[in-house]
Amino acid sequence: MEIFARPSVGAGAKTLPAAWYISPDVFAQEQERIFRSEWLCVGREESLPRAGDFFTVERAGESLIVTRDAGGTVHAFYNVCRHRGTRLCSEESGHFTGSIQCPYHAWTYALDGKLKVARNMAEVPGFDPAGYPLKEARVALWEGFIFINLRPSLILRQAQDDNGSSNQDDTRPGQDTFERVFAPLIGRFSRWNVENLQTARSITYELACNWKLVFLNYSECYHCPLVHPQLDKLSPSDSGHNDLSEGAFLGGYSELRQHGTSLTTSGRSSREPLGSVGGDDLDRVYYYTIFPSLLLSLHPDYAMVHYCKPLAADLTKVVCAWLFDPNAMAKPDFDPTDVVEFWDLTNRQDWHVNELTQRGLNSRAYSPGPYSNAEGLLSAFDRHYLSIMGA
Ligand code: FES
Ligand SMILES: [Fe+2]
Repeated sequence: MEIFARPSVGAGAKTLPAAWYISPDVFAQEQERIFRSEWLCVGREESLPRAGDFFTVERAGESLIVTRDAGGTVHAFYNVCRHRGTRLCSEESGHFTGSIQCPYHAWTYALDGKLKVARNMAEVPGFDPAGYPLKEARVALWEGFIFINLRPSLILRQAQDDNGSSNQDDTRPGQDTFERVFAPLIGRFSRWNVENLQTARSITYELACNWKLVFLNYSECYHCPLVHPQLDKLSPSDSGHNDLSEGAFLGGYSELRQHGTSLTTSGRSSREPLGSVGGDDLDRVYYYTIFPSLLLSLHPDYAMVHYCKPLAADLTKVVCAWLFDPNAMAKPDFDPTDVVEFWDLTNRQDWHVNELTQRGLNSRAYSPGPYSNAEGLLSAFDRHYLSIMGA
């Protein structure tokens, strides 16, 4: 992996004007330009071990059912019945026994979305069930994460009433496929074996701040000595080296002060390193922002994930999850508390300063301030964000 020295910020780089963080109009534009257009992480494949397991997600005003069919394929169905549009599923998660049935008139869909049963419709002239499968968003799987894309042109439309053809896949050349967008990340983290890790614990937070402040805060450790004395004790705040410093994915690593330590409440860990992690990586923690929905932190012996979802211009839901090797989790003495408590404290320290920033952004006295040399990734984030927003 190429390692670049920390980029200097370039004279004059400043924070963005306040409207980007507080305006409901900007929030609405983001829903269209970002959250209905980019690849969004909605969870892990491990949540769907069996055919018929499902969870529902809300993104950009849409409800989707994420489930696995009998052949093992993961689908993200729009939660909309093809009869009269009724929401099909109101539960957060569960298991479909072989099919998905609408609670209104019992139209019943197979786990691959095909309409199997539509009561009394056989007599309707011209009605063909093959023309009314559930519509679905495009799904991509990467390192055990499930990504969906809500771009209207990527809806898998299989319906004759919409476009006169069935089973149409309308990805046109030149569109941003997952493989193209994620090219800088594909294969990059194989040493940690992220695909096979399992979630041991998660904590959900609601933050009174804009989602971008969470990404910006994660991208610098300028604040660490003051805000995170416990973290600073184990990992020096000025030890960051970036290896992705432009574009949709940004980050690099920070060093641990002492060999054999880990970011835990005790500073120690008895867990084996993940996958094939060895050499210098035993003394590093890698941190990446994966625009616009995921923060991925790779430690020698565990991974941490923040799933981020904006709820309003000044409200963000963050689910923080801690992932471990399934073999470590199977041991009778496995206990992730040392990790969870360390990062729950660190998270809360971060959320506090992010919420303080949001409050300042609401003041008429706020004007863009200069980034420090330790905040190169922040101006890179702003550049990428503004280009997506067409600004
Ligand atoms: S609306 Fe779903 S079966 Fe009628
Ligand atoms: Fe922090």
